[in-house]
Amino acid sequence: MCGIVAYLGEKNAYEVVIKGLQRLEYRGYDSSGVAIHKDKSVNIYKQKGKVQDLIDFASDKDTNGNLAIGHTRWATHGLPNNVNAHPHQSSNGKISLVHNGIIENYSVLKKELEQRGYKFLSETDTEVLVHLIGDIHKNGKQSLFDSVRLALNEVIGAYAIVVISDENPDELIAARKSSPLVVGLGQGEYFCASDATPIIEYTKNVVYLEDGEIAHISLKNGLKLKTIGNQNKTPYIQELEMHLEALEKGGYEHFMLKEIYEQPKSILDSMRGRFSISQGKVVLGGILDYEEKLINAKRLIFVACGTSWHAGLVGEYLFEEIARIPVEVEYASEFRYRNPIINEDDVVIAISQSGETADTLAAIKIAKERKATLIGICNVVGSSISRETHCGSYTHAGPEIGVASTKAFTAQVTILTLMAMMIGRRKGTITNERFNRLLVELNAIPEKLKTVLKENDLIEKIAKIYHKSTNALYLGRGINFPLALEGALKLKEISYIHAEGYPAAEMKHGPIALIDEEMPVFVIATKDSSYEKIVSNIQEVKARKGKVIAIVSHGDKEVKKIANHYIEIPKCDELLVPLLATVPLQLLSYHIALMRECNVDQPRNLAKSVTVE
Ligand code: M6R
Repeated sequence: MCGIVAYLGEKNAYEVVIKGLQRLEYRGYDSSGVAIHKDKSVNIYKQKGKVQDLIDFASDKDTNGNLAIGHTRWATHGLPNNVNAHPHQSSNGKISLVHNGIIENYSVLKKELEQRGYKFLSETDTEVLVHLIGDIHKNGKQSLFDSVRLALNEVIGAYAIVVISDENPDELIAARKSSPLVVGLGQGEYFCASDATPIIEYTKNVVYLEDGEIAHISLKNGLKLKTIGNQNKTPYIQELEMHLEALEKGGYEHFMLKEIYEQPKSILDSMRGRFSISQGKVVLGGILDYEEKLINAKRLIFVACGTSWHAGLVGEYLFEEIARIPVEVEYASEFRYRNPIINEDDVVIAISQSGETADTLAAIKIAKERKATLIGICNVVGSSISRETHCGSYTHAGPEIGVASTKAFTAQVTILTLMAMMIGRRKGTITNERFNRLLVELNAIPEKLKTVLKENDLIEKIAKIYHKSTNALYLGRGINFPLALEGALKLKEISYIHAEGYPAAEMKHGPIALIDEEMPVFVIATKDSSYEKIVSNIQEVKARKGKVIAIVSHGDKEVKKIANHYIEIPKCDELLVPLLATVPLQLLSYHIALMRECNVDQPRNLAKSVTVE
């Protein structure tokens, strides 16, 4: 969480940094700030609220300068206010720093510094780090670079930092451990950012810093890399494949809506080149070297958080059905602290849109220590999880900016379907006929999804009826049960309505007590092997005067008769229903949140990339 941006070059640094912060605002948006170098001093402006509040605040201030750092915050230590906003400064005001991460031993360090007379202005862990750097710089007469490096050796925790000093208009120092940081190399200019989105407009050449690396950047000497242990490293320059248009709203009112509508394309992009109907095969090139491990795996363990965890639950049904491998789906945050039993013949699959989620990253590090094979399913190319795993398949959904995950979910489910099919085929656990039929059906999903999106007006009307509800229930069975969880999560996170997802049959074991005429119950009731059962569950809701909004298969008769509202989706193989049925749930949440005047793209208290535990 938190986004950081820095610029050194000939441009107006404030403008580059502000634009970058707006791109990174999805990472945190409770306060923001900039430090701009000018004539042997630094102008600092900070403001509670969105980046726009900072822009308004700084509109009549001096924002000139060619070196600047900026930060958009998601609070961990201390309230979101102007004092706790970054950048923070050393006690003599000469060193300024922005930080993404958590300094875990900050209280010990703080006590030591306080005993030596340092006064703290904020409640943040970050201020400890900048005082520590200042202390080493002042007392040890070290260069700024070595002061930062030595200070980082005393720090336990996660950080991506960028540091500048009053004394040098040509120096940026950047370092990372467990929080992402990218350096952009332009023509006579340098950029640092939490991800490549603030950089892509200016250059495609980037260096992703590795854990424990520290960069010294100056116009005079270019980029020099070391470890914090003082070993020289050679920067590995990569070319970005991202396109600027992918980062814009492209005429949509919100990123979330754009991303919902992008799903026919993002699913297609995730499948492209990975299967052939004529040859009857699926090949995920990224995992080919580890295919045998998957085929012989005694079990699979999916580790993930939030929406990605829901994709893992769908994956459980897919792998057990198609490849006949037992699957466990774990919340990464629980798995990592449980002393889990992992064997060498286990395959651990980490699912993460950002590839930076701290708990998921920590979970795979544990699995790696215990010699499991690690596979990543990530959306962000070059992300920490994609680098930490032995192999993997990218989802190719394109940048997902809306905090509520939408297209990343369907892309993850697409990859899981292909992976299960590839392994099932090799193991012989799926018949040729079923395999080929599934492939044809999968290929047809993007077109079918376009039909689902045409239901938007109807979905908006239904949203209007229920947007004032205070509670909602989501029900599904089998492979659609994770969709109930996902639908409830989407509603909660962007509209702040309390919602719960349940396996439909579990309702009678408790939640049925909640049902009255005020309660909307969203049911995934497509025509599949549990159709009759879900019809009975709907009857149970109706008998208690609950309002049923059902997602049904095209041509359905029975549910249509009893539901208060229904949304039709095209018929498809029941294993592929999640790819279609999720979308009306996303749209429902979107419209309800909008009608409640909630910030759809940046819901309160959340951040896109959760890089803290
Ligand atoms: O980047 P990841 O997929 O690892 O993120 C996991 C969760 O933080 C994420 O899915 C979160 O739950 C979303 N806000 C859900 O919409």
